[in-house]
Amino acid sequence: MKITVVGAGAVGATCADNIARKELAQELVLLDIKEGVAEGKALDMTQTAALLGFDTRITGSTNDYSKTAGSEVVVITSGLPRKPGMTREELIGTNAGIVKSVTENILKHSPEAIIVVVSNPMDTMTYLALKSTGLPKNRIIGMGGALDSARFKCYLSAALNCSPADLNAVVIGGHGDTTMIPLINHATWNSVPVTHFLSTEQQEKIVADTMVGGATLTKLIGTSAWYAPGAATAAVVESIVRDEKKLIPCCVSLEGEYGQNDICLGVPVVLGKTGWEKIIDFKLNEKEQELFNKSAEAVRGMNGVL
Ligand SMILES: NC(=O)c1ccc[n+]([C@@H]2O[C@H](COP(=O)([O-])OP(=O)(O)OC[C@H]3O[C@@H](n4cnc5c(N)ncnc54)[C@H](O)[C@@H]3O)[C@@H](O)[C@H]2O)c1
Repeated sequence: MKITVVGAGAVGATCADNIARKELAQELVLLDIKEGVAEGKALDMTQTAALLGFDTRITGSTNDYSKTAGSEVVVITSGLPRKPGMTREELIGTNAGIVKSVTENILKHSPEAIIVVVSNPMDTMTYLALKSTGLPKNRIIGMGGALDSARFKCYLSAALNCSPADLNAVVIGGHGDTTMIPLINHATWNSVPVTHFLSTEQQEKIVADTMVGGATLTKLIGTSAWYAPGAATAAVVESIVRDEKKLIPCCVSLEGEYGQNDICLGVPVVLGKTGWEKIIDFKLNEKEQELFNKSAEAVRGMNGVL
């Protein structure tokens, strides 16, 4: 197994670190446009191998895509992150050009790769990758729901004083402060609905905190977060390369599912060795469907900017 991570910045390097620690690949390539950065971070990570006990071979490359040849999974994190007060959507102009050229270069050397898109605005960048490459839809996966659901579980576990590992909770819809939909009515604590334990005010606060989860961190750190985004991306990669068939909300191409067409949006999907293998299309209640439609409308507007 060979995996490439494009963009050796905060999210890309953290994702690569998680991939190496979990030994998801024999060979891991980090690629960045900035001279020496990918090589330096690859070497730094390699020097943790003796301490952490992994055998993944990590190499870095400054924009030389021949080093990525034969990758089975490619993660795209290249692009600008947001600054405090910025929305993910404001990144569209710059990041669209980057994502388009990166996917073209990647496919020249790894025509069979499954592509995981992380760069923001992620729903639109995933749609762009799908449309500009013409790849089969199952090989293009946007990472956002895995992260948003982990943040949702973080806030739920704090309110319930429980282990986040005992929670089942997903966020669907767009990966934006106003477009994501934390499905609190479907969330359970070891199969008991969390709504049994939380007041309406508590539920509303958890949902609101989840939706601005990224913005809260951007305000504190001064740039966008990386530990949870990197770990969430590695979890998506893990389910693919280990063929785990995990059910993880990801941004994928919809063709009628959840009442939407010609859009990439976050829905629960089964992830395995061929990419996203199945969309779990369950019936939302009227209010949830209305939110999903609004989310699709907003993302469609953003896609129009492309
Ligand atoms: N989908 C999500 O859940 C999620 C979460 C966090 C961040 N993000 C997004 O991920 C992206 C990366 O965030 P970050 O914090 O790692 O930013 P960063 O600035 O730390 O890293 C980005 C890297 O991309 C590189 N890069 C720029 N253009 C490139 C090109 N053409 N080819 C190769 N590399 C190139 C830069 O040199 C830089 O090292 C941003 O768009 C951010 O908004 C998405």
